[in-house]
Amino acid sequence: MSRVALVTGGMGGLGTAMCKALINSGHKVATTYVGDDESATAWTAKMKSEGFEVFAVKCDVTSFDDAVTAVAKVTEQYGPVDVLVNNAGITRDGVFKKMTVDQWLAVINTNLNSAFNMTKQVFDGMCERGFGRVVNISSINGQKGQFGQANYSAAKAGIHGLSMALAQEGAKKGVTVNTIAPGYIGTDMVMAIAEEVRNKIIAGVPVGRLGKPEEIAGLVAYLASDLSGFMTGAELAINGGQHMM
Ligand code: CAA
Repeated sequence: MSRVALVTGGMGGLGTAMCKALINSGHKVATTYVGDDESATAWTAKMKSEGFEVFAVKCDVTSFDDAVTAVAKVTEQYGPVDVLVNNAGITRDGVFKKMTVDQWLAVINTNLNSAFNMTKQVFDGMCERGFGRVVNISSINGQKGQFGQANYSAAKAGIHGLSMALAQEGAKKGVTVNTIAPGYIGTDMVMAIAEEVRNKIIAGVPVGRLGKPEEIAGLVAYLASDLSGFMTGAELAINGGQHMM
């Protein structure tokens, strides 16, 4: 029987590749989205035309109540969630001097509190059933910090703290919790950085290019699989050598 995977923010640059990789590895895949329903319908139709059936649920991941409702809908559609990828994330970059409370809270709520809201819906069930995979998407900038990203770096470092703690709680129950820390990947989020700034960043990547969403998605599929059962609480960097730990 196919396992059920839920990817938050699955319609974004990384998320779309993750949905495809998880379907290719035999999962039934659901995603959350925010924003307008027309775009979501268009994305779902395009995916379907490429052979990828994804169940899309509207959910503001910053809201605990939305998370409750969304996971209930996924469960009704496909059955209980076996694999949760906490991928939804935003940037509100700015030097700390200029950073507003709104910028701080938007990023902490979307990139960190969302992981609590979503994981809370599925973790106990995973433990009871004796299998589960939680994959938290962090960032190179949660590992090394980044000028202009106090909010984002804090949230992304925080999400790995969540992984390490939950990994210990799930370890004896077949539930693994791991973090992926992507570097700069060729998504809209990275393309939104001013070109001059972006080019300087790319110049500091030993591999000499931006990463590809598929390169992150491949690791998500591995972490979702049975093969990864001995890996838990790990933080896996995919950053073209930009930051080596
Ligand atoms: N280290 C030290 N000093 C730096 C610096 C750095 N990394 N970057 C900029 N500065 C300096 C500048 O040289 C400039 O100095 P002067 O005033 O003496 O000229 C000063 O800081 C101000 O810099 P900016 O002109 O860039 O300031 P700004 O207000 O116009 O822009 C910013 C600030 C929006 C944060 C901009 O610097 C920026 O976009 N930085 C990149 C942030 C980034 O990497 N975001 C990642 C987004 S993608 C993502 O997050 C995905 C992921 O996980 C990787």
